[in-house]
Amino acid sequence: MDMMNCKRLCLALSLSLYGMQFPVAVLAQQAAPIIADQYRQQPVIAARGMVVSQEAQASRIGVDILKKGGNAVDAAVAVGFALAVTLPRAGNIGGGGFMLVHLAKDRQTHAIDYRETAPASASRDMFLDAQGNADTRKSRDSGLAVGVPGTVAGLELAFKTHGSGKVSWSEVLAPAVALAKNGIVVEEDLADSLPQAQKRLAQYPSSAKIFLKADLSPLAQGERLVQSDLAQTLELIAARGSAGFYRGEVAQKLSAAVSTAGGTMTDEDLATYQPVIRKPVTGIYQGLQIASMPPPSSGGVHVIEILNMLEALKLPPSAAPDAERLHLFAEAMKIAYADRSEYLGDPDFVTVPVAALTSKRYAQARIKEIDPAKARPAREIKPGQLAPYESDQTTHYSIMDAEGNAVANTYTLNFSYGLGLVAEGTGVMLNNELDDFAAKAGVPNAFGLVGGDANAPAPRKRPLSSMSPTILLDQGKVVMVTGSPGGSRIISTVLNVVTNIVDHKMGVMEAVTAPRLHHQWLPDELRVERGLSPDTAKLLEAKGHKIVVGAASGSAHTILVTPRGLEGAGDQRQRGTLAAGY
Ligand code: GLY
Repeated sequence: MDMMNCKRLCLALSLSLYGMQFPVAVLAQQAAPIIADQYRQQPVIAARGMVVSQEAQASRIGVDILKKGGNAVDAAVAVGFALAVTLPRAGNIGGGGFMLVHLAKDRQTHAIDYRETAPASASRDMFLDAQGNADTRKSRDSGLAVGVPGTVAGLELAFKTHGSGKVSWSEVLAPAVALAKNGIVVEEDLADSLPQAQKRLAQYPSSAKIFLKADLSPLAQGERLVQSDLAQTLELIAARGSAGFYRGEVAQKLSAAVSTAGGTMTDEDLATYQPVIRKPVTGIYQGLQIASMPPPSSGGVHVIEILNMLEALKLPPSAAPDAERLHLFAEAMKIAYADRSEYLGDPDFVTVPVAALTSKRYAQARIKEIDPAKARPAREIKPGQLAPYESDQTTHYSIMDAEGNAVANTYTLNFSYGLGLVAEGTGVMLNNELDDFAAKAGVPNAFGLVGGDANAPAPRKRPLSSMSPTILLDQGKVVMVTGSPGGSRIISTVLNVVTNIVDHKMGVMEAVTAPRLHHQWLPDELRVERGLSPDTAKLLEAKGHKIVVGAASGSAHTILVTPRGLEGAGDQRQRGTLAAGY
């Protein structure tokens, strides 16, 4: 692995020690420094490969695949299936997501869209009640909320298109099958999340018998979670490929479960599901190339739009995000999230002005609206005129291999444990992703996000997402892989991590751990994590921001390429994460 492939970030990573600048490589030859700001929190460092995911067994499975000669994509597919077993709140085969793959051999980055789709029977008013009001029971708590799952087809497409060919399909599925069949010990994260989902799981006997005990209390830490039906489904997928999921017995059981829960998804909807290879959305920030997820995720577009505005604001260098900077950051976020509400949707149904929204000229124009002294009320901010958007329900993992290939994968069931419904006899936990549509123009979804026609439900349409798997490159070589769960806060989480590294020269663990801030235009509040300096908060309030201290935001498992090697930072906001390398 060529560790010197990070020229600009190496500059960024030169340590500020006693006011002097030392390149990391020089410091490595010296006695361990007593104070080294970037390394107060040590990442995991490895020379050949790195897997950072929300769950330790899945991370180790990924590393095993790399050690067998598989590449980052093979490992990502194995981790994706493993998390469906070990992290049932978010890892899944009954949901969907987005995978960004960078291949070192041709320096190309590919975006795989395996987002859930609305069934053919979907309609504009499907989530309204008899009075025409948005009915959240329909969009979040019924079979109508279930999108046709994309994960199995997406992982298969990634494996077939970009896998190394050195490990077989059954080899990447085998660890997940074994964990589902033999069971796993319930550890902290699972023991924490099950009580929160207990009510929803208890509604469905098919779910309760797996995750709850006879008295309907959740499995507790130290007990064993065995998922025999899921093991059988995974074995069918191993034997028949995605057809083992989308056709035949499993498909029939999935559609029957959705129908019993009040939905209309058919066998035909499942049989016709297709993942889509899309062109990543790209940009340049401070000389580094950014590749991220295009629509139907809003993630990449707004990550780049906001970074463009920050760059256009020509902010002076600062060692830490001070109040002046955070104010501008918040104002830029409001503008981008307002744009999201108007313009973003499934590009197969609406024209999304990606080029305009991610152009430097547009950023230049929009920063003119920003007052450095004062927060603008959200009601005064409108989507731009173009010439010519807590959570622990999603999960992200980052992988790199010895060749410099990289995978950033974010996938989800929407809510933690999705709809809470396991389709009887399949072990498949079903999503409630269709709440990501705008049930009614201007009415917020579960994440407080508003939208309009561009994101209205329609047959076979994909609901708008915020998932932002992101890769940063320097002269065509990967220097950083990141992404996060967090619903509407995914975009801001990724931005916080990127700017902490690129602008504030933080080490990867510090960048991932530092308190985050988020503004999504509506509601008009600047959400900050506990830990933001009270002085900074006061300065922001003086500019007119309404500060709301919220729960921890996101879980941004990140890899940074430095002269020390592949630095893996497992975000500790959620328990169970592991950065594993070799
Ligand atoms: N379900 C959250 C998202 O896709 O943004």
